[in-house]
Amino acid sequence: MINDLFSKIDNEHDLTKADICELLTLNDQQQLYILYEKADKIRKKYVGDEVHLRGLIEFSNYCRNNCHYCGLRRDNKSIERYRMTHDEILQVCSLAQKMGFHTIVLQSGEDPYYTVEMMENLIRQIKQNFDMAITLSIGERKRSDYERMFNAGADRFLLRFETSNRQLYAKLHPDSDFNHRIKILTWLKNIGYQTGSGIIVGLPGQSIEDLAEDIMKFKELDLDMIGIGPFICHSKTPLAGSKNGDIELTFKVIALTRIVTKNTHMPSTTAIATLRPNGGMEQALGLGTNVVMPNLTPIKYRALYEIYPSKASIDEVAEQTHVRIIKRINSLGRLISKDYGHSLKKRG
Ligand code: 5AD
Ligand code: SF4
Repeated sequence: MINDLFSKIDNEHDLTKADICELLTLNDQQQLYILYEKADKIRKKYVGDEVHLRGLIEFSNYCRNNCHYCGLRRDNKSIERYRMTHDEILQVCSLAQKMGFHTIVLQSGEDPYYTVEMMENLIRQIKQNFDMAITLSIGERKRSDYERMFNAGADRFLLRFETSNRQLYAKLHPDSDFNHRIKILTWLKNIGYQTGSGIIVGLPGQSIEDLAEDIMKFKELDLDMIGIGPFICHSKTPLAGSKNGDIELTFKVIALTRIVTKNTHMPSTTAIATLRPNGGMEQALGLGTNVVMPNLTPIKYRALYEIYPSKASIDEVAEQTHVRIIKRINSLGRLISKDYGHSLKKRG
């Protein structure tokens, strides 16, 4: 009975995989409303009303990998590639500081051009010049690289496991091994990074069971941050012609992830804002998420970072996006955080 599951949530009892599967198949609007309300309440109780803004810098769209869903995959010869210089990145950090950001997210494809020495220098300079937490999202490297970048001052690292279905993972990631990826996540935590992961909802071949398993995996990994977005089909990839992920299913996965993991930081992702430009961001903030990552990549590069097509705020300058997002968050009655927005998990 659905009411039994709802009271299990209210009493904060652990949900089983079967419970999660049942809740993921809810379709009744009234019941979905109740589920989202419960996720929102747990968000409020565990991470409060503050929304953390993280300024996103997509500093290189070169990638050595060939993930089947992604427009930046190396075999996509139809995009122009770019790399931002050290100085260009620092300029964006300076802008971010002026705009009041307390975290900068450095994201790129897996681009070995940026050696660990270059990353260390960049991280040190950002830390010297700006009062800012640094999140890295640059893919797989060797363990000593993660250690060196952490010692240089990086605070957080994002590495999605994308799907916990091993067969599907292997099929979609010709260059990456699932077990190794999970191992990297444990390295990152042990090194001391606030560690984030996440998944894509609606990958071709992904089942409801897989998504329930993903949610259990989030909990097992004891993550600090979890990013969840719908699959968006890109025509220049092997998945061309596939259906986009379902936004409602994405919302259910987010709500249940909040209910299960409680005090994690969860972004209202760009993929959501892309599939639902009018109101998607706000909806996700109302059912469990508490982070927004405005895009600060210089306009001349923005359209080239085409993970998927028609990415949200592709031609809007950073200042405009910022004002628009703050207005929309305030209109929800939520506050903009004034601190770094570090993990709320106690470690030690
Ligand atoms: N649709 C949705 N998300 C995607 N990503 C990459 N390609 C797509 C796509 N076509 C996500 C991956 C990656 C993150 C940076 O973007 O989850 O980890
Ligand atoms: Fe490269 Fe990341 Fe895209 Fe995979 S998802 S092709 S690693 S940019």
